[in-house]
Amino acid sequence: MLKLGVNIDHVATLREARYRGRSHGDPDPVAAALICEAAGAHGITAHLREDRRHMQDRDIWKLREVIQTRLNLEMANAPEIVAIALKLKPDIICLVPERRQEVTTEGGLDVVGNERAITETSKKMNDAGIEVSLFIAPDPAQIAASARTGSQFIELHTGAFAERFTGPDTCSSRREEAHSSREQSESLLTSAATIQKDDELQRLISGAKQAHALGLKVNAGHGLNYVNLAALSGVPHLVELNIGHSIISRAVTVGLSAAVKEMLHLMETYRGT
Ligand code: PXP
Repeated sequence: MLKLGVNIDHVATLREARYRGRSHGDPDPVAAALICEAAGAHGITAHLREDRRHMQDRDIWKLREVIQTRLNLEMANAPEIVAIALKLKPDIICLVPERRQEVTTEGGLDVVGNERAITETSKKMNDAGIEVSLFIAPDPAQIAASARTGSQFIELHTGAFAERFTGPDTCSSRREEAHSSREQSESLLTSAATIQKDDELQRLISGAKQAHALGLKVNAGHGLNYVNLAALSGVPHLVELNIGHSIISRAVTVGLSAAVKEMLHLMETYRGT
């Protein structure tokens, strides 16, 4: 079964928009995490950025204390954050590149150019009982380098794939259709699934196959939503999807529990072929 990790960073983004610098405020990402778990999410993902623009240290410590599923800490390979992770002991970390200017993580990690540093961090984490995932583009050289670092997972960056679906006809209007009834939802799934296996989808398919052959487990994430999810069904070997923005956005209109359940429902169609 394909698992869902809900990225709750944007709950903290909303809180920080009003309460930056305070030790409290709504909405609370920890409360959101508990709702996601109760709705069936298989894990919670949170990114402790070096600039603390959304998640704060207190959030991740509280998450570690209360969540019952799996905590995936997204992080840069930076000494301060590595030290925090080794103390926090999330179930898994996902190393991501961080650029201050970006709104969210925009590109994949350069494992080829940072192989030694990533290998060292991966070993430290594994020695502490923490699994490691690397957020990379579906690029053959990056996948091969990832396998050499001793990391257990890669997370394939689906941003370029997701971009294929943006536009008025494929995004806003059809999203509502996807939610309006089961039949409509299924017909939308079929039409999304028939979208040609374009270059980006092919890159994900061959990346997943290459990683699997090298012994890596394969996650995917970034930009996944209620519309583009169906086309991902052709990507083999996927273990978990990490989805944030679309679920948190959907929660504004239907509530977080319903938004998570809707996504899980769509994920049931995953075949991996
Ligand atoms: N996976 C990783 C590694 C991320 O950095 C992010 C956030 O950019 C996500 C998944 C979730 O992306 P989105 O919020 O677009 O669903």
